[in-house]
Amino acid sequence: MLSTLEWTGSSVRLLDQTQLPTKIALVDISTPLQMHDAIRRLVVRGAPAIGVSAAYGACLAAMNFQGPLPVARQAVLDAADYLATSRPTAVNLFWALDQIRSVVRRSVATSVETLCQELLAECHRLFEEDRSRCRRIGEIGLAWLLERVKHRPITLLTHCNAGALATIAYGTALAPIYVGAEQGVAMEVYSDETRPLLQGSRITATELSRAGIPVTVLCDNMAASLMREKRIDAVFVGADRIAANGDAANKIGTFPLALVARHFGVPFVVLAPTSTIDATLPDGRGIPIEHRNPAEVVEPFGLKTAPPGVAVYNPAFDVTPADLITAIITEKKAHAAPFRF
Ligand code: MRU
Repeated sequence: MLSTLEWTGSSVRLLDQTQLPTKIALVDISTPLQMHDAIRRLVVRGAPAIGVSAAYGACLAAMNFQGPLPVARQAVLDAADYLATSRPTAVNLFWALDQIRSVVRRSVATSVETLCQELLAECHRLFEEDRSRCRRIGEIGLAWLLERVKHRPITLLTHCNAGALATIAYGTALAPIYVGAEQGVAMEVYSDETRPLLQGSRITATELSRAGIPVTVLCDNMAASLMREKRIDAVFVGADRIAANGDAANKIGTFPLALVARHFGVPFVVLAPTSTIDATLPDGRGIPIEHRNPAEVVEPFGLKTAPPGVAVYNPAFDVTPADLITAIITEKKAHAAPFRF
């Protein structure tokens, strides 16, 4: 399995996901500035992975700091504020940075060195916690599927990448597939290519095929035809932010997929850690949606696909209303509608 991120002892080693699938390139991040840039450019992406990366990014501010302890503490808080501006939608980013801020507030460190140790211990804890939460999501998601689908192979459709490379390990939407594979449960996956940046074909297809899971890439607009032919047992997707009523933001194109799934009676399941739930928002209307560079749509991967100067609409996420969601699976349980977390 490829690792999303690793701590080297002095830097964070990220798999550069912008280079997939053609290159397995690693990049070492040693400053908060570099981490901000890596998150913004999608070198590291996926809500849980962004959160853990940002935490390490803030920790690097202390590790690079030379000067008195109170100034070091402020440098970490400033770095956390700065990293919080890298992407707006995934609430895991803000959640993880809040964990770092509370380490600084609670700190009993008497030197910059011990502050670094406290911060690093918190980052490693977030790293391990993400792995174990995703594992648990996989177990609960698999049990949910096995109760409902009796034939084999089980065929899932997914959108974007909510796999191991969007987290520390296992992923969220793909975790039940990996846990199922360990237990000999045959599954196959259709992966929407996921316009405009193709996380589905570049990243999901890469990680699943490397893990030996049968995966078929399709254009986003082919999902309805597949569902009409009854070739999909369930749609499994991740989320970047889930409001208190269950409305869920995920990669653009998730909402139309949920509408199509409802039309054909295919279960539509969102899988995410509890750190993706934003209890401060009563519904999805308050979820901030990132709008990205128009070039991603009209000049993807350096190829011009529209006339120069044309207007472009490029929101990175959409919000699926809770009433289209069959279940929301966290590391705690499979929630059924109406959602109460
Ligand atoms: O823009 P991205 O690639 O960060 O978008 C990622 C997604 O939308 C994922 O589905 C979501 O973050 C969940 S990852 C477990």
